[in-house]
Amino acid sequence: MEPLTSAGHTLYFESGLVALKNLIESHQYSKVFVLTDEHTSEVCLPVFQSFLEDFQEFDLIETAAGEENKNIDFCIGIWKTLLDFEADRKSLMINLGGGVITDMGGFIASTYKRGIDFINVPTTLLSQVDASVGGKTGIDVDTVKNMVGTFTLPQMVFIETEFLKTLPPRELLSGFAEMIKHGLIADKAYYERLKTTDYLNPAAIDIYRSVEIKNEVVTIDPHEKNLRKILNFGHTIGHAVESYSLANDENPLTHGEAIAIGFVCEAALSIKNSTLTQPELKDISEYILSLYPKYHIRKESFDSLLELMKSDKKNEDGNILFSLLESTGKCTFNCRVATADILSSLEYYNSL
Ligand SMILES: NC(=O)c1ccc[n+]([C@@H]2O[C@H](COP(=O)([O-])OP(=O)(O)OC[C@H]3O[C@@H](n4cnc5c(N)ncnc54)[C@H](O)[C@@H]3O)[C@@H](O)[C@H]2O)c1
Ligand SMILES: [Zn+2]
Repeated sequence: MEPLTSAGHTLYFESGLVALKNLIESHQYSKVFVLTDEHTSEVCLPVFQSFLEDFQEFDLIETAAGEENKNIDFCIGIWKTLLDFEADRKSLMINLGGGVITDMGGFIASTYKRGIDFINVPTTLLSQVDASVGGKTGIDVDTVKNMVGTFTLPQMVFIETEFLKTLPPRELLSGFAEMIKHGLIADKAYYERLKTTDYLNPAAIDIYRSVEIKNEVVTIDPHEKNLRKILNFGHTIGHAVESYSLANDENPLTHGEAIAIGFVCEAALSIKNSTLTQPELKDISEYILSLYPKYHIRKESFDSLLELMKSDKKNEDGNILFSLLESTGKCTFNCRVATADILSSLEYYNSL
């Protein structure tokens, strides 16, 4: 597949990894670091090395897996490790992992000695179609997601579906939600095609189109001043439900499961506050419920959810702002919505 060019860097698909070794050598980096988590060092690093003709000339930095480790304490540990290994400004960091690793590794690289080069090799579906594209790096502070971060582009991104073979089904389904979002906000035909796609078969998933959509949007508006906000469809309510679930549920929702709930609620909001039609809402609701487990949004959580939505960093002047569908495949942004409508949309989801 043809690489996609984005502002200042290139996204390579499939077989692109083969060329990475040459690219590293031609840049004459003083040192190469590979950042992994405990799972990707076990299942993805051997695949990565085999693609690069048994590549060995790097130092490995391994962290614990999971969102709870995407924080400043881990960054400090990794910055110190880089110092111990005498990393200088001509060093390269390769982030080999899911969104936690590409977000945190990008942040560490973009700030270490005021910035060193980094490359993203995303290994989850979510990080391939979303987190590794667009230049947002970041870490969480307490329960606030992505509170601190930078907009810094990697030198390159390598998207290789071979990695997805070891990914658990629930993680595949989580990433698939971002692809559904790309269809809903920008390409109705793609959304229709996804409906007939088996998400459990990585070879059948059209990752390329998803990355193309995200890349088009972030190239037009890299710093999220306007158009990029459409990528937040489903996320205002989805993030709140995700945070609440993380803090209160024994088996918390994944990001994808939470934003899928957000799609249904925000599609319901789009009926009253934008031009989405009732049949379109019905279609979206039915499709989401056919794929994602039904969750009960507890009535006693509604106030907390509203508070969480108010703390969303995309708000302006204290107003909760939504990106809403005008139709399936078309999205608008900066929509103010009455609190009563938000609560009705939660009730709508529960009633399905
Ligand atoms: N920067 C952005 O624009 C952006 C966009 C969307 C999401 N994100 C961030 O991405 C993160 C979520 O990413 P994620 O869902 O990839 O989570 P993750 O990085 O935690 O990965 C999920 C799990 O899968 C494991 N894993 C990774 N690759 C594997 C493989 N090939 N085989 C087996 N196991 C594997 C990981 O070790 C982890 O346990 C969140 O922190 C979110 O904020 C960032
Ligand atoms: Zn998301």
